[in-house]
Order: sequence, then structure tokens, then C-alpha cells
Amino acid sequence: MAPFISSPLSLLTFLLLLLLLFLSSAASHHLKLPLLHLNPYPPTPSDALSADNHRLSFLFSASRKHPRPRLPVTSAASFGSGQYLVSLHLGTPPQPLLLIADTGSDLTWVSCSACRRHCSPNSAPFRPRRSATFCPHHCYNPACNLVPHPKNSPHCNRTRLHSTCRYQYSYADGSVTTGFFSTETTSFNATAGKILKFQHFNFGCGFWNSGPSLSGPSFNGGDGVLGLGRGPISFTSQLGRDFGHKFSYCLMDYTLSPPPTSYLLIGAGKSKLSYAPLLVNPLAPTFYYIKIESVSIDDVKLRITPSIWAIDEYGNGGTVVDSGTTLTFLPEPAYRTILAVFERLVKLPESANPVPGFDLCLNVSSGVPRASLPQLSFKLGGGAVFKPPPRNYFLDAAEDVKCLGLQPVTTDSGFAVIGNLMQQGYTFEFDKDRSRLGFTRRGCSAPP
Ligand SMILES: *[C@@H]1O[C@H](CO)[C@@H](O)[C@H](O)[C@H]1NC(C)=O
Ligand SMILES: *[C@@H]1O[C@H](CO)[C@@H](O)[C@H](O)[C@H]1NC(C)=O
Ligand SMILES: *[C@@H]1O[C@H](CO)[C@@H](O)[C@H](O)[C@H]1NC(C)=O
Repeated sequence: MAPFISSPLSLLTFLLLLLLLFLSSAASHHLKLPLLHLNPYPPTPSDALSADNHRLSFLFSASRKHPRPRLPVTSAASFGSGQYLVSLHLGTPPQPLLLIADTGSDLTWVSCSACRRHCSPNSAPFRPRRSATFCPHHCYNPACNLVPHPKNSPHCNRTRLHSTCRYQYSYADGSVTTGFFSTETTSFNATAGKILKFQHFNFGCGFWNSGPSLSGPSFNGGDGVLGLGRGPISFTSQLGRDFGHKFSYCLMDYTLSPPPTSYLLIGAGKSKLSYAPLLVNPLAPTFYYIKIESVSIDDVKLRITPSIWAIDEYGNGGTVVDSGTTLTFLPEPAYRTILAVFERLVKLPESANPVPGFDLCLNVSSGVPRASLPQLSFKLGGGAVFKPPPRNYFLDAAEDVKCLGLQPVTTDSGFAVIGNLMQQGYTFEFDKDRSRLGFTRRGCSAPP
């Protein structure tokens, strides 16, 4: 990695990490995740989406070689956020938006403004009144059953003629978005230089958005959230049926300046991947779970009781792959073991000024010699090994200081999370039909 001091991003990244600390020390240990156990979905949700012609229509004339939507992805580090942003166009004519890529939630929503003609620069980024194709769902529409509704307010008032479908979607840290569940036309640049349009894309037009991860600095640069989860209303579930229920992305190194662009690709991507089976947790149908079989450092398997990685009968535990969480969270006993081994093996002095929130910080003022940072690897269910480079978990936390970017999960109901920084430099392919996660380092390296 290029020396960090010389990079103009260093201060921003420093702020970013302070921000991460602030967020990770908040009541919830995740930056943002949807509330579990709400079970907002009826038993056969995809039927409701296809009922009364709300199934997406694929406007591009079908050809044998389908072009596939290819959406630009960049790190939001230059906005001081630890998120990755996807560029999406919504409405007719198309309005450009930047949405947080989140495999840990299902609802796609955008911050909406009611302005028509006189929109101030500070008004919310999406203006439904300037779109000819915006259409809020009626509350009697079966699609309205797919979203949670505001508490204390009956979502359908039978005495009103025009009652729009109100949604209220909450994240684990208490952040909430409320608005109208609606449909719109969304357009993409696709492979082979084509433009694709999808009609009747279901999304939330969010008029009331609050909470630390929706209004604080972690939301900087974002106009909403792109829900990439496993549930029926997610962006990828809605679009995916025309593309084999597959999508892939590559998250580039967030410290690079200017931030490089990679892509979220809907449909089949690369071949020659390593695969791990995706597990299903009926109590949390949004998440992509993988099984961690064992953890090694410098190819030595650590003594960690395998049962701490399991999903229990109440749906707690397990390991989730989440693009919307920045750091990686591991069960406390595994975290303690990994930390102790790193402390023993690392060949760099510890920093004299530890960074609050991190247990292991190193003084890298004399550089980082090759092989001075131990190499972490995860053996996954199915036998594939995920061996991310040390820069994915030794993060620049202050000038000349790198800290181990892992956090312990301390609550019984918690679960492990492979966060977005740990995923950098890999292409991940989520294949819902074959229930497997593919990954490879090929095709996701930083530009030279
Ligand atoms: C339903 O709407 C009517 C007319 O707007 C209003 O008077 C009534 O209070 C509403 N009922 C509920 C339960 O909100
Ligand atoms: C397609 O790409 C062009 C050139 O990069 C860009 O100007 C345009 O906004 C993109 N359109 C969509 C719908 O993404
Ligand atoms: C790092 O090491 C250098 C040289 O030994 C020292 O001057 C500096 O104060 C140290 N910085 C921290 C944060 O430990």
C-alpha cells in the first residue's frame, strides 16, 4: 500500500475512523441493520409482488445475450463515511442518486422532497413530482403487505378514498425511515453499452428519516439505501428474476484517492470463483449467512470452539456478509483468541497512544516491512478459504498508527458480521437460486 501520510485522504480517513469508533461504541454494535424478528413478510410474498401486474417488466427486447445492469460503486470515504455508494437513476426523466449498498437490509428507499418547481439545493434529492412515472401504492394493494407500517397508525383508513401505503422501516441502531411505498421506473447503464429500464420498481419514498445511521456522518454522501438483502422486496430480488437471481460487486480499497469506481453487476458475473454455501435463518430472512468452520493466523488453526459460530434455535448467532457494516464483528471468545495471537505475532511496536475503541494499535512510523503483519484466514463451510490481505483488517486509524479493525460481539442475541472493509479487493457473487456465495480476488484489484 502506498504510504498513507502522503495521501490527501489521510485526514478524512482519520476522521472516518473516529466516526467508526463513535458509532461502534453506540448502544448497538452494528452501524445499521434492520430490526430482526419483525417478520414483515407474508408467507408467499413474491405472489403479492406479481399480483395485479406489479411484476417488473423488462423493457429491453430479449436477446440471447442479455445485457446486464452494471451500476457504479465508489467508497464514501471522501465524505467521511465508511459506506460504499451505488449510483442509481430513478424516475422519468431519470434523477441521479447515490445509495448506500446494503446487503444487510431489503428495502430500497430514497430521501424524498415534495417540491415541484422551486426546489432548494437543500431539499431532499429525489423529487417525485418531477417524475412522470412515480406512483405510490394504494394501501389495499397486496404489495403494501410487504413492508412494515408505522406503529400507532392504521396503515389503511377505510374512510379515505385515496390512502397511500405508508411504510416504516427500522434499523438495529434505532434509525428509522418513514414514507410512501411506491413504484418508479429505474434506468441503468448495462453491459454492452446498452441502457436498460425497469418499470414498477418497488421502493420507499422516505419523507421522514432519522437516527444516527440515517442522519449522522455515516450517511454523508448517501441519498438513501439500496437494499440488497435476500428478502422479496430487495433491489436484487426484484430485478434478479430476469437475471438468474444473482448479483456481484467489488469494493475497492477505500484509502485510494481519487476513489476508484467498481461495479455492482446484476446477473451472472465471473466464473472461476471459490464458493461457500449460504445458510438460511428463517428468523432473519434478509441476511446472507455463511458458516465459519475455523480461523487461522499465519496458517496455524486457532483453538476456538466451533459451536460459537452456529445459528442457534432462536435464530441468534451465525455470520452475516454485510456491505452496509464497516468493521468486522466476531463472537467475543473468537475475538479474544485472535487478539492474543496477533499481539504475540505482530512484528511492529505498539502505538504509545492507543486509539479508543481498538485493542491493538501499532506504530508504523518506520514503515510496514513485508510479513510484519500476521495473515488472518477463515475456513468457510464447504471448505473454501477466505484469506483477506492485512490492509483489510489493519486500518489506518491515526497518522502512523494502524489498528486491528475487529470488534467483539458481546450480546447473546448478536451475530458475527463480515463488514465491508474486510471485503475490499474481492468480487463477491451472491447466488440466491443456488444458495451460495462466490468470491475471487481476480478483477477487483486497485488500478495501478
Ligand atoms: C380516517 O380518516 C378520517 C378522515 O380523514 C379521519 O377522520 C379518521 O380519524 C381516520 N381514522 C383513523 C383511525 O385514523
Ligand atoms: C450512463 O453513463 C453515462 C456516461 O458515464 C452517464 O453520463 C449517464 O448518467 C449514465 N446513465 C445511467 C442511467 O446510469
Ligand atoms: C512511534 O515511534 C516513533 C519512533 O520511535 C516515536 O517518535 C513516536 O512517538 C511513536 N508514535 C506513537 C504514536 O507511538
